[in-house]
Amino acid sequence: MKALVLSGGKGTRLRPLTYTMAKQLMPVANRPILHYVMDQISDVGIKEVGVIISPETGQQIKEALKANPWGFHFSFLLQEEPKGLAHAVMVAQEFLSCEPFLMYLGDNLIGQDIEGFVEEFQISSPDALILLKEVENPRMFGVAEVDGQGNIERLIEKPKEPPSNLALVGIYLFSPLVHEAISEIEPSWRGELEITDAIQKLLDKGGTIKSFILEKWWLDTGKKDDLLEANRVVLDELIRRELRGDVDEKSKVTGRVDLAEKAQVEGSTIRGPVVVGEGTIIRRSFIGPYTSIGDNCVIEDAVLEHSVILDGAVVKGIERLEDSIVGRNAVVSKELHNSRALRLMIGDDAEVKI
Ligand code: TTP
Repeated sequence: MKALVLSGGKGTRLRPLTYTMAKQLMPVANRPILHYVMDQISDVGIKEVGVIISPETGQQIKEALKANPWGFHFSFLLQEEPKGLAHAVMVAQEFLSCEPFLMYLGDNLIGQDIEGFVEEFQISSPDALILLKEVENPRMFGVAEVDGQGNIERLIEKPKEPPSNLALVGIYLFSPLVHEAISEIEPSWRGELEITDAIQKLLDKGGTIKSFILEKWWLDTGKKDDLLEANRVVLDELIRRELRGDVDEKSKVTGRVDLAEKAQVEGSTIRGPVVVGEGTIIRRSFIGPYTSIGDNCVIEDAVLEHSVILDGAVVKGIERLEDSIVGRNAVVSKELHNSRALRLMIGDDAEVKI
């Protein structure tokens, strides 16, 4: 079986960060989301991985996968424009050939392995097996209507009156029949070839579409708050206490804190779960739970909590920063002699809440 990972798209909801960085490379607990995706694929023994890339961020994606600790054979497949998830499958058709495949959205994180999901596909060999998750607000998702045996009967995109609370997670298993279904659908109102339309077409043609319910968490990291939530959940589940950097006697580091080599903590308190990258300096600060700080950052006279600070960023003299994402090399500082005026140089689509 092959895997197809979708790492193209525009990532408009995460601007301005996505002007210079692929959404799938945004760090969660200081590791690109895409690496968690690859771990999952590797764990089910797949070796042939096709990666959909865009002209804008394709090079970064290739770089991020270069070390390839999974030993995959990668094929990078250029999608000139983000014309939809089903369009991405069309772009990959030659690579996928006549084999069944696992399709995985490169910005989705789930809290359990996919072994049971893949096994179910191999045992019952439906035309498609769709991963579903119970959600509280089904009106915001693609939703499935499922019968008593787990067969999917209908799919509805963002329904006003949801037939169930089962949302489509961005992880699917398809037989090669899906290609025929995709060739028969038209672009939706938003101009995209939708994978939900392709699955519905497969159903209309008499295909068997089964569902598999995800028990643990699912996070789609497309927006700021989702990314912060992913960071919180992953820090909570995965971070162990490991202090490889330097902590001076005046500092207090409690709980599960992962401090990378060459990181320095001076006169500060860190309360885990927290991860701090290589070469980062933390002085006279308090770092509260659920914070990830990248490599080579400087945090001085600041209080941070529940935030993601990307590589090279500087935060100085800030009384309290929370629920925030600070981009690479960005500077957030307060000038001591001036408490009233704000002096900003903010990129397009940035958000500042005072
Ligand atoms: P989305 O989050 O639906 O789309 P997007 O990345 O363009 O983001 P936004 O809505 O904020 O503009 O995409 C889900 C995943 O699929 C994501 O990893 C990007 C990828 N994708 C492609 O590879 N090709 C495509 O044509 C589309 C629409 C998405």
